[in-house]
Amino acid sequence: MADTLTITDNRTGKQYEIPITDETIRATDLRQVKVNPDDFGLMAYDPAFLNTASCRSAITFIDGDKGILRYRGYPIEQLAEQSSFVETAYLLLYGELPTETELATWRKDLSGHVLLHENIKMFMGGFRYDAHPMGIFLSTVGALSTFYPLAKNIDDPDSRRRQTLRLVAKVPSIAAYAFRHSVGKPYVYPDSELSYTGNFLSQLFKRTEPVYRPDPVLERALDVLFILHADHEQNCSTSTMRNIGSSNADPYASLAGAAAALYGPLHGGANEAVLRMLNKIGSVDHVPAFVKTVKDGQGRLMGFGHRVYKSYDPRAKVIKETADQVFEVTGRDPLLDVALELERIALQDDYFVSRKLYPNVDFYSGLIYQAMGFDPAMFPVLFAIGRTAGWIAQWEELLRDDTRKIARPRQVYIGESERDYVPLSAR
Ligand code: CMC
Repeated sequence: MADTLTITDNRTGKQYEIPITDETIRATDLRQVKVNPDDFGLMAYDPAFLNTASCRSAITFIDGDKGILRYRGYPIEQLAEQSSFVETAYLLLYGELPTETELATWRKDLSGHVLLHENIKMFMGGFRYDAHPMGIFLSTVGALSTFYPLAKNIDDPDSRRRQTLRLVAKVPSIAAYAFRHSVGKPYVYPDSELSYTGNFLSQLFKRTEPVYRPDPVLERALDVLFILHADHEQNCSTSTMRNIGSSNADPYASLAGAAAALYGPLHGGANEAVLRMLNKIGSVDHVPAFVKTVKDGQGRLMGFGHRVYKSYDPRAKVIKETADQVFEVTGRDPLLDVALELERIALQDDYFVSRKLYPNVDFYSGLIYQAMGFDPAMFPVLFAIGRTAGWIAQWEELLRDDTRKIARPRQVYIGESERDYVPLSAR
């Protein structure tokens, strides 16, 4: 059986044989399909990229029907149970789990880059007290590009490694100060005795105590959430990272763009939207009426549905278990009952069942974040910290790809055909 696709153009009666590789045809192979020799040739029309592979990638595997997610081959459940975020970030970035020595070096190198330049602090201090922390976060990441002009040497692997360290190390410091700024508290300098996530909690919540000691359960829960969010193949923000990166922009500019894409309520802003939705519903007995409004088309059930998962999001399963551990420390949030009831009703309602809408990663994560003391506005920022590892891994993969070209989709033009300019006085 030949791995080809035969296309018959009924406009001309001509047949074309197109190779199939990895269950995929190359859209550019369609260009030979023409009525006249000087035609542009056939294009694939795929708004929102529902069925277009934009790259070949060895980083993350998802089977949306079976609810499988693996980083570099390792199941997400095993990483969430046994790995740390710092180790998982290394895995995503360098392709293999680190040895003990590699991990120790990676940790040390990261802790050497946690500090922010004092001018970055001043830059962040210029935002209004009520600025959304995600707006502060993405602007500050973009501003880092002006502090590290050598990051423009994107073809130099040493420079890329340095920028990678800076980004993975500094995003928690930026996130923490974005939060502290919004509540009028001073910047907290990093504590190198603490883990990556423990130090982040210290930078967020330290008050006047000489040494901040994070609760180990909460520290582990946040670390697990970072692991779960670390990568998710070619989602909206990662595609943005690759798109911007394809113009040879530096990684700070690219990552600022990726963070901007993540900010939207249909993507990383969904966990914030879930919490606002749960607060609006208020109590379990209001759930049926709310579900009815969703089915009537008045808004979506936030934290439900996914472009790729058509079964239970494997990350949501882990998060649900993590929530139980967190609530043992913080006390149970009554909104959890609202969420559980929403899930129970939705999973037996034909509207959601027939559309294969299941809870996604954001359905329960917001409840954990809230229990840990975060304001909903911080939720997408927390997502961005974990996802930074994936964004950079995908950017690095792009830069190593010999077939890399600037991303530049085509369009189907539906506007006016040529017409003559009409002077203002004649309109
Ligand atoms: N609530 C109610 N109906 C929904 C929902 C929802 N959350 N999601 C999809 N639908 C319906 C939608 O109205 C459509 O119905 P119909 O066929 O009758 O028009 C059908 O399901 C298919 O939806 P779609 O919008 O074509 O699906 P999509 O793949 O374009 O959208 C999505 C995926 C995640 C944007 C969408 O499911 C959604 O808006 N969910 C809520 C927001 C959310 O939780 N986002 C976080 C995603 S996970 C974190 C991340 O990776 O970013």
